[in-house]
Amino acid sequence: MSTLLVTGGCGFIGSNFIRHLLATDRAVSVINFDCLTYAGNLANLADVVDHPRYRFVKGDITDREQVRAALRLGVTDVINFAAESHVDRSIQDSGPFVRTNVIGTQVLLDAAREGGVKKYVQVSTDEVYGSLGADGFFTEATPLHPNSPYSASKAGADLLVQAYEHTFGLPAVITRCSNNYGPYQFPEKLIPLFVTNLVRDEPVPVYGDGQQVRDWIHVLDHCTGVEAAWRRGKPGEVYNFGGRCEKTNLDLTLTLLDLLGKPRTLIRYVKDRPGHDRRYAIDCAKAERELGWARQTTFDQGLLETINWYKANATWIAGIKTKDYLTYYENQYDRLQ
Ligand SMILES: NC(=O)c1ccc[n+]([C@@H]2O[C@H](COP(=O)([O-])OP(=O)(O)OC[C@H]3O[C@@H](n4cnc5c(N)ncnc54)[C@H](O)[C@@H]3O)[C@@H](O)[C@H]2O)c1
Repeated sequence: MSTLLVTGGCGFIGSNFIRHLLATDRAVSVINFDCLTYAGNLANLADVVDHPRYRFVKGDITDREQVRAALRLGVTDVINFAAESHVDRSIQDSGPFVRTNVIGTQVLLDAAREGGVKKYVQVSTDEVYGSLGADGFFTEATPLHPNSPYSASKAGADLLVQAYEHTFGLPAVITRCSNNYGPYQFPEKLIPLFVTNLVRDEPVPVYGDGQQVRDWIHVLDHCTGVEAAWRRGKPGEVYNFGGRCEKTNLDLTLTLLDLLGKPRTLIRYVKDRPGHDRRYAIDCAKAERELGWARQTTFDQGLLETINWYKANATWIAGIKTKDYLTYYENQYDRLQ
């Protein structure tokens, strides 16, 4: 039996990961440790709140005592999804990014070491590699070259994880994934923002010339990657995950307009993001070869399902837009102190 401390489990990817594990492995219990920032939403896991192998603990990964107390609940493994994750916010104020992504990771690493966990998984991002030209792919050997305060904070965390593995023998692995899409993504990110605007005939903002290239992967394919890295990843190793699905932001926008039957006049070109990375593309052959991981969802199928999910879950969206989710579920959480 494994008891996973999943941090940031009320966010987009963490909530999909928890739902997936509870549904597929009876030998896993999950403690979801999340401090509920603006991006953390208990409604993302409303369907598992009473699951016998699930427990939510409200806590902050930068708080040493809260993290230690959570580890004492019988935790065998740590999966760290908790992060400040939106690049635009990191450009406005990098403080919370350094605090949670770097210091929070350091606190978790210390606690994981003290607690003697069997495996520590750091969920990182392809953005730590920087930007590509027209050719080539990021491999695990690509030097780190983060360009935004967000990616710099994630790269800093990755270096700490590698140092703890090397210095203290902490059994830690790092995953680096490309852009995720799917249900429960906070509607400040491209796909949910555009879908929720377009269904109401509101315009969608496209940065600069829209020619930035991103590699898209369905969130569940990322979740099975993190799971594979937890189960079979070799300590000290990094594993890339991606969708082998490169799209320019403009092409993706046009696809969304077409699928929703909306006119191109809803596109608004806006000033480009400062320091905007031009192209990301991931080589995930190592994860396929060494972890036996494989993507299951094609982009066409996954995008259609995702659009339908946002259309069918108007209450979830409305709860976020009115910030009701910040208070709705307040009584449901477990405070350790
Ligand atoms: N979204 C993507 O496309 C993508 C791609 C690759 C990697 N990642 C990485 O995956 C992880 C999850 O991303 P996401 O998109 O689900 O993010 P998200 O912003 O949707 O969720 C982050 C969660 O972390 C929680 N959190 C933030 N600070 C915390 C703290 N100090 N203590 C405890 N909890 C805290 C928030 O409340 C929220 O529930 C991040 O580490 C991110 O860097 C994301």
